[in-house]
Amino acid sequence: MSTKKIVVFTGAGISAESGLQTFRGTDGLWEGHRIEDVATPEAWIKDPEKVLRFYNIRRKACREAQPNAGHLALVELEKYANVHIITQNIDDLHERAGSKNILHLHGEIMKAQSSRESRLVYPLDKDEITLDDVCELGSPLRPHVVWFGEYAPNMMIANRVVSDADILLVVGTSLKVYPAAYLLDEAPDSCKIILIDPNPNAIRLNSKVEIIKGKAASELPKWIENFAKYNF
Ligand code: OAD
Repeated sequence: MSTKKIVVFTGAGISAESGLQTFRGTDGLWEGHRIEDVATPEAWIKDPEKVLRFYNIRRKACREAQPNAGHLALVELEKYANVHIITQNIDDLHERAGSKNILHLHGEIMKAQSSRESRLVYPLDKDEITLDDVCELGSPLRPHVVWFGEYAPNMMIANRVVSDADILLVVGTSLKVYPAAYLLDEAPDSCKIILIDPNPNAIRLNSKVEIIKGKAASELPKWIENFAKYNF
């Protein structure tokens, strides 16, 4: 096995071919929902039922979805390199595919957290959270997701993971959400950066980034097959 450290930074695009909607773009989630209504602490205070409904639908969709060839290829990659996955996704498709090192930057839909103490996190064995569900402190449970305006607690760890990467593979993200998108800046000069996306966003990209224009489920297996052969 190569001793290369490959960090894979994923976004909603990697789960698109599993049937989960991305956020931006014409058929994205934020076309049909206002962020301020469902994904902010203010929304939770104003209308918690609406917020719960929004994430209950996402949770059900996630449970019904299956990992696709892109997720599975990343498991295969572990045979050839030291792989770390950093994902902005709240779905559990990397886990269900079988990847080992997974860090979630924006939380996990299959978990709930106390609305009073964010460190109280609980696995969910049902699709829905209702206002009757409470934590051990008696406060309502909310989805274990990082909302706009909230601190992303795993960002510091993510920066450290990227800081000594040999290869940074960025897959299916518009790189429009911060601080997550700053991760690319944490890569050392020696790190090769590759972006796989059918519609790459040029904003955070420079000449150093190699772009593979295409979908994750077809391009990732190809890239990994080549890596296994040539160990580039
Ligand atoms: P976006 O919806 O912003 O971007 C999805 C990206 O995936 C776009 O660049 C698409 O071109 C690309 N894409 C679509 N289909 C693809 C496929 N089959 N294979 C590969 N790429 C594909 O999603 P994110 O960048 O993940 O945060 O969004 C970042 C954050 O914004 C999310 O984590 C979420 C959202 O608001 C929170 O809710 C806090």
